[in-house]
Amino acid sequence: MGVCGNADAPILMFIRRITLRHYRNFQNLDIELPKGIILLKGGNAQGKSNFLEALHFLSSFKSPKAKEDADLITKGSKRAYIRGEVAREGRIFVIESYISEEGKIVKVDYKFRKVGEAMGKCVTILYRDEDKEIIIGEPSARRDFLDEELSLIFPRYRDALSSFRKVLAQRNALLKTEVSSQELEPWNQEFAQLSSQLISIRERFLADILPYFQRVHSALTEGEEKPYLEYVRTTGESVEEILDDLKRYEEEEREKGMSLVGPQRDDVLIRIDSMDARYFSSLGQVRTLALSLRLAQLFYLKNLLGEYPVFLLDDLSSDLEERRRRKIGEILKGVEQVFIATTQRELFPFRVEREIAIYKGSVIENRRGNY
Ligand SMILES: Nc1ncnc2c1ncn2[C@@H]1O[C@H](COP(=O)(O)OP(=O)(O)OP(=O)(O)O)[C@@H](O)[C@H]1O
Ligand SMILES: [Mg+2]
Repeated sequence: MGVCGNADAPILMFIRRITLRHYRNFQNLDIELPKGIILLKGGNAQGKSNFLEALHFLSSFKSPKAKEDADLITKGSKRAYIRGEVAREGRIFVIESYISEEGKIVKVDYKFRKVGEAMGKCVTILYRDEDKEIIIGEPSARRDFLDEELSLIFPRYRDALSSFRKVLAQRNALLKTEVSSQELEPWNQEFAQLSSQLISIRERFLADILPYFQRVHSALTEGEEKPYLEYVRTTGESVEEILDDLKRYEEEEREKGMSLVGPQRDDVLIRIDSMDARYFSSLGQVRTLALSLRLAQLFYLKNLLGEYPVFLLDDLSSDLEERRRRKIGEILKGVEQVFIATTQRELFPFRVEREIAIYKGSVIENRRGNY
C-alpha cells in the first residue's frame, strides 16, 4: 500500500495499448501495456520522452513541450496518429487523435468529439524535469500549473477561465483608450464575477492538496522537512472586494493600460518550514518539491475520482539521492499504472512489472523486469 493509497480499490484505469503513427520519432509503434510499474529505458534522444508525451496526450490533447500540435508530426510526414485503449470503469475506451498542419481531430469510441468533451476520459499526470519551474520559476509557472490541473478536472473552471481570458483582454484593450468609467463598469462586473470564481476554486484546491503534498513530501524526505502551499491574492475573494479594488486602482490601471489586480497576477507561495522555496531551496529540494506536487495531484485525484490516474515520470534526475529514489517505489506501490523513463535503470532500485527498451523510435526489447 502506498502512503496515501488503497491497493484494494475496486475501480481502475490504465492504458492497455498505444499505437503511434508518424508521431515525433515514432514511425510506427503498436504495443500492449501491462498494469503496474513500466520502465522505459534507452539512451538520450531515442524517444522515451516522446512516448510519455504521447500517453499524456490521451489525457490533455496537448503537449506541455510542443509550441504547436504540428510539432508532434514526424518531420517530412503530413499527419500524425495516436490511438490509445484505456481500460476504465469495467470497459475499454478507444481514444484517437489525428494531427495535421490544419489542426487536430479527436475521437472517443470512433465518434468525433470536441477536445473539451474528450478530456478526462483518460487521466494522466506527467512529471518532467521542467516542473522545477513550478517551484523556482516566475509566478506564471505556478498559475499555469493551477490552470492546467483545474481545467482538466473541473469543466466549470475551464469555462470560467476561458471567459475570464476574453474579458481580461477586452478590459486591457479598453484601459488603453479614453473609455469612461461608466463604459468600463460592465466589464468590471464580469471581471469581478469570473475572478472570484477562479480564485475560490484555486484556493480550495490548494487547501485540498496540501495534506497530500505534505504526506508525500514527508515520505520522500523521511519527515525531515515540512512544506506549505499558500495562495497569494492580489485582490479580495468576493465580487464586492474585487470591484472595490478595481475602483481603487482604476487610475493606475489606466496609466499602465492593463489590469493590475486579479487571478492573472496571483501566485502560490511554496514554503519549506518558514523559507520561500523559490529562493532558498537546494537543487535536490526543488526536485523533491516538484515531484511531491505531482504525486499530491495523483493522490488527490485518486480520492476525487475513485481511481488512480496513470502516472508518468520522465527522467527523474540523479539530483535526487538514492534514499529518495528508493522511496518512490514504495509510494507508487498501490498505483494502477506508472511509466518511468530513464537512461539509467539502476537509478530505480525496485522491482518493475515490465522493462521496455526504446531505440531510435522503436521498441527493441520488452520483458518483465526484475531488479
Ligand atoms: N516532429 C519530429 N519529427 C522527427 N523527430 C522528432 C520530432 N520531434 C522530436 N523528434 C526527435 O525525437 C528524438 C527523441 O526525443 P526524446 O525527447 O523522446 O528523447 P529521450 O529518449 O527522452 O532522450 P533524453 O534521454 O535525452 O531525454 C529527438 O532526437 C528529437 O530530435
Ligand atoms: Mg527525455
